[in-house]
Amino acid sequence: MILVTGGAGYIGGVTVELLRARGEGVVILDNLLRGHREAVPADVPLFEGNVGDRELIRRIAREHQIAECIHFAAFAYVGESVAEPARYFENNVQQGIALLGGLIEAGVRRVVFSSSCAVYGEPRHIPISEEHPTQPMSPYGWSKLFMERVLENYDSAYGLRYVALRYFNAAGATGLLGDHHDPETHLIPNVVSAALGWLPAVSVSGNDYATPDGTAIRDYIHVADLGAAHLAALDHLRAGGKSEPINLGNRLGYSVLEVIETARRVTQRPIAIKFEQRRPGDPSRLVADAGKAHALLGWKPAYADLTSIIQTDWEWRMKHPRGYASE
Ligand SMILES: NC(=O)c1ccc[n+]([C@@H]2O[C@H](COP(=O)([O-])OP(=O)(O)OC[C@H]3O[C@@H](n4cnc5c(N)ncnc54)[C@H](O)[C@@H]3O)[C@@H](O)[C@H]2O)c1
Repeated sequence: MILVTGGAGYIGGVTVELLRARGEGVVILDNLLRGHREAVPADVPLFEGNVGDRELIRRIAREHQIAECIHFAAFAYVGESVAEPARYFENNVQQGIALLGGLIEAGVRRVVFSSSCAVYGEPRHIPISEEHPTQPMSPYGWSKLFMERVLENYDSAYGLRYVALRYFNAAGATGLLGDHHDPETHLIPNVVSAALGWLPAVSVSGNDYATPDGTAIRDYIHVADLGAAHLAALDHLRAGGKSEPINLGNRLGYSVLEVIETARRVTQRPIAIKFEQRRPGDPSRLVADAGKAHALLGWKPAYADLTSIIQTDWEWRMKHPRGYASE
């Protein structure tokens, strides 16, 4: 059985959907602080609790013969982490370490970890490969890098093998599951909500970056492509592959204004813009070199362009006007 922490969240939920479609046995642990019970299929066991609750980890491992873990559970807002670093280190690092301790005690030796492009900081070159220096600009990024170091040391000392997937910007939806957070800090859900008239305007954080139009450039990757990469990472570990950090992105950078323009085309609706200050902790440009994921995992994104990614979010949001509360 696979323990999926954060499986009631956005990327975790979609990965659970794909794991089940492949016939894998899954158990979810999520405290539902930022996830949704409605995103969890009725026949998947859901433990509502914290990943830092070691006694609970022992119990789940015992009751469900956990052999592997995909660890999504974390707080994931860069700006919030700058304002409240203690929350991020306590939740993502302190609780993450307790989880790994419980897993090792239970004999689990394969972990797929949700890391982030936030580990790189302001890039020295584009696209960013895994060899790029890591110098996070936010406590969030540090919390992910710190967990990668813990995993590296636990591999050497305890034989815990892992893949740390460094996602760039997750976006889009499957037929069933989409990006729904409150508050929502992700760009594409906000752009689509503005197109639907649910937001008066999209906030654009910073138009004075050193980019052609002054807005920040990101690499958007479809959530189903991210999910598929977790299955491939698991297969890599099952086949005896070694521990690795691996980037997941499309190698395509779009500025905030380009995303809004694409969404106007997809939705055929007007989208108003409100310029605001830069968010602390945000680099100007993040674009992935995902060559290692292609070569090592045989992973190839199915949604390689921004239009189709936005289209899936648009379709999901129209069907779920109140997010998961619509279920
Ligand atoms: N969304 C992105 O673009 C992106 C990019 C890079 C990395 N990531 C990482 O991917 C992972 C999933 O991101 P997401 O966008 O699906 O976020 P999400 O908030 O939708 O999902 C995270 C889930 O973890 C749960 N959770 C958080 N802390 C917990 C704890 N201590 N114990 C138990 N449950 C806990 C939340 O309730 C939520 O359901 C995170 O680790 C995030 O840092 C996300």
